Amino acid sequence: VFRGLPLLGLAGCGQAQSSLNIAGQDAGSIAELFWVMLAGAVVLWLAVNGAFYVMSRVLPGRIDQRHAARLLVGGGIILPTVILTALLVWGLALLPDPRRPGDGLVVRVTGEQWWWRVEYWPEGASAPIVTANEIRLPVGERTEFRLTSDRVIHSFWIPALGGKMDMFPGRETMISLHPDKVGTYRGQCAEFCGASHAWMAFSAVTMERADFDAWLAAQAADAAPPADPAATRGKAVFAQQGCGACHAIRGTEAVGTVGPDLTHIGSRLSIGAGRSPMTLDDLSAWITHTEALKPEVRMPSYDLPEDDLADLAHYLKGLK
Ligand code: CUA
Repeated sequence: VFRGLPLLGLAGCGQAQSSLNIAGQDAGSIAELFWVMLAGAVVLWLAVNGAFYVMSRVLPGRIDQRHAARLLVGGGIILPTVILTALLVWGLALLPDPRRPGDGLVVRVTGEQWWWRVEYWPEGASAPIVTANEIRLPVGERTEFRLTSDRVIHSFWIPALGGKMDMFPGRETMISLHPDKVGTYRGQCAEFCGASHAWMAFSAVTMERADFDAWLAAQAADAAPPADPAATRGKAVFAQQGCGACHAIRGTEAVGTVGPDLTHIGSRLSIGAGRSPMTLDDLSAWITHTEALKPEVRMPSYDLPEDDLADLAHYLKGLK
């Protein structure tokens, strides 16, 4: 076990969820702060050790008390005060202001136990486009996030794009992010919020503006009718099992708002808020083993005949 530990430490570097894997302006400032502070710490460490060597090995017997006192005041008080003050002023100026206004697009995200309710408000929109558990953003512009929470404190964090921001019940916080690189990055709840805190993740997908507009238009549309007999049967299973009491599929009778909106669940990269990849097998596993996959989740596990389960998974996967 212990031989693997150093590898574990390295595993965090350069992968999708890292503050040093920069894909946005705000993450750039944070990474710059990290590297300069690290370089500063290395220089100070070397200087302190050098000074210690000189004071213990070279100076004794060669310096009088007055000079020794000056050395202590200069090296022990004045020099660190100047360096630390300079680093503080520079660091505060560099830190991204989370309240910087965006360029038009507003995304409202609500932290739920343990998933993300997501509403897109394009400029001038009178009603939101509702999705869940995935954030898509246009590159080259600043998007404003309005954050809130259901009943406990969560924290919204896409390390590749910027800093994190806490989400409080009954209060709205804000962060704005400016992605500048197309890609897929991992987002994660960064505040302990209960049994499945670790399973509260999401994909953040950054896209060119035209691709983003096409994607958003597709998300705004109602679900298409089932494309084949299996999907039609799956839709019937969804209705029989009462899934619509908690989930909405726009364009059908399912209008629940307790759980994630499933209108276009098949277009998402993951299911269960980053819990599993979007595959037929994982959809089936999610429906039948919900509580095992996400402890204390509010959705119960369903015991379905094999054919019904396959049709239901097929129907959901087809909701693109
Ligand atoms: Cu939500 Cu931790």
